[in-house]
Amino acid sequence: MSFVNTLMKGEQGLFKAESLTAMQKLTLRFVVVGLVYYLFVVVEGMIMRIVEVEQISMVSQEQFFAILTAHPLVGIFGSTYSIVMGAFLFLVPFLMKKPLYSLKLAHWNFILITAGTFIFWLAGFISHYAPLYTLYWPLPVDFNQFSPVGGSFFILGIALVMVGSIFFVINVFKTIAYTPEGWEK
Ligand code: HEM
Repeated sequence: MSFVNTLMKGEQGLFKAESLTAMQKLTLRFVVVGLVYYLFVVVEGMIMRIVEVEQISMVSQEQFFAILTAHPLVGIFGSTYSIVMGAFLFLVPFLMKKPLYSLKLAHWNFILITAGTFIFWLAGFISHYAPLYTLYWPLPVDFNQFSPVGGSFFILGIALVMVGSIFFVINVFKTIAYTPEGWEK
């Protein structure tokens, strides 16, 4: 249990979550979620490598292609986006010496990226939706091959990630351009 204890409370219990500022908590959330999704991608990558060398009974052909579809998207959206967005939402206000334009928008940004990635990953996991990682017409809507429900949830997940990304862009540009109340232009 000491490993879990160190993970949750830090070395010698020195990590005190209540002492963190709202910005530090936000950044930490993005980084932790980004690393968890990175773990998903690494495990998926290892599974694909094994199957490509030698077919194993645990992973069917449908599962392999479902993994091949979700793997790049979880890597790019769930992991890379999360870590980069977390870093920039912290760095831009820090370097410009003014508060973030909207903490609320940043929270929604976090929720949408995290939930969106989980939804499309789960849709692929359950329904084996696998038009590869291209979402270009007409492959994603070939419902002779793939379950329409699985496909709809997969696309819903991606759409949520896109909305989250728009929130990020708005927040960063607004932070750069706005003048906080009582500040000189
Ligand atoms: C240690 C971690 C990783 C391992 C072991 C791994 C392994 C693999 C394997 C075995 C494939 C299938 C290659 C094929 O048959 O075409 C693959 C595909 C791919 N991976 Fe990874 N991967 C890792 C991390 C990542 C990350 C972090 C990203 C994105 C940020 C990523 C993006 C991709 C993409 C875009 C493809 C191509 C998918 C396709 O051809 O449809 N991978 N990876």
